Amino acid sequence: MVDDDFSLKLIKWYKLNKRNLPWRESKDPFKIWISEIILQQTKVDQGLPYYLKFIKKFPNVHDLAKANENIVLKLWQGLGYYSRARNLHYSAKYISKHLNGQFPKNYNELIKLKGVGKYTASAIASFAFNEKKAVLDGNVFRVLSRYFGVEEPIDTTFGNKIFEDIAYRNLPRKNVDTYNQSIMEFGALQCKPVKPKCNSCPFESKCFAFNNNKILSLPIKSKKIIKKERFFNFIVLRNEKFIFLEKRIKNDIWKNMYQFPLFEEPIESFYPPKELIKTSILSKKTELTHLLTHQKLYVVFWDFEIKKLFQNKKYEKIEIKKLNEYAVPKIVENYINQNIGIHRL
Ligand code: ADE
Repeated sequence: MVDDDFSLKLIKWYKLNKRNLPWRESKDPFKIWISEIILQQTKVDQGLPYYLKFIKKFPNVHDLAKANENIVLKLWQGLGYYSRARNLHYSAKYISKHLNGQFPKNYNELIKLKGVGKYTASAIASFAFNEKKAVLDGNVFRVLSRYFGVEEPIDTTFGNKIFEDIAYRNLPRKNVDTYNQSIMEFGALQCKPVKPKCNSCPFESKCFAFNNNKILSLPIKSKKIIKKERFFNFIVLRNEKFIFLEKRIKNDIWKNMYQFPLFEEPIESFYPPKELIKTSILSKKTELTHLLTHQKLYVVFWDFEIKKLFQNKKYEKIEIKKLNEYAVPKIVENYINQNIGIHRL
């Protein structure tokens, strides 16, 4: 499965159709690293403003290394998969402290960084250093499986090996950086998951999926994502000026972010502590569900107003007007925006 025309046609298509994106104007591995980590699980339109904010605040690896973790998480707020931000921060500190501030200069060194896997190391190595590495992300799997007719699943070790093989055999001798950008851009804009633009495709007559009516069945995935159900009971405890937050320490996707005091147990069996009910007024109870890629959350906010907020070792007493300085998960942010506006002060 080698096609000499493949890379040439892709690059030609790219030159006519590419979006102008800031990380493509740069050879700075730090900036490319930030962009690739953002784009791992996020579409370009959503990721672009975050990239611009991030680079403005942290123009180089030292600035990121020096930052407080809450500031980094706060800048990431709303993007999800917060381990990406924690790993970026961790690796920046590592580079600054142990590598003398020298960003790794090749694939073998890049892949040692926390949060950098095969895809990201290949992307940085090819874009910043023109190393001959093939990138394999969701876009690339789709283009390769449809064009070459690969009917192996993309999410098994064996299938992955097949795709890697085809990707490397079709890598051009020169301009690997442009080629890698081209194949990803082609997947994002032309060979899209649904409603691909086959009518205006430069490959149409040679595409296996198009010729065999398999456009929507390729690529193949073997596993269905099973969503874990979780039950969150949040206690919103506040008076006119103050509110309680707690820092999550549990090692999950929201580690080190802030939230309202949380009781994670089935919604039906949870009831707020009796003491609380006696000394305060329940002003509101809000129930909602929230879907994440791997989780289904059932969430209840129990919103209490209390005259005098006691001190409590487990929770931090925060001024409501400073609430927006804390990095919080999306569900908590939405609740704050809808219910705890400044207008209530
Ligand atoms: N997705 C992942 N990397 C990308 C890049 N460099 N440009 C556009 N989309 C991408």
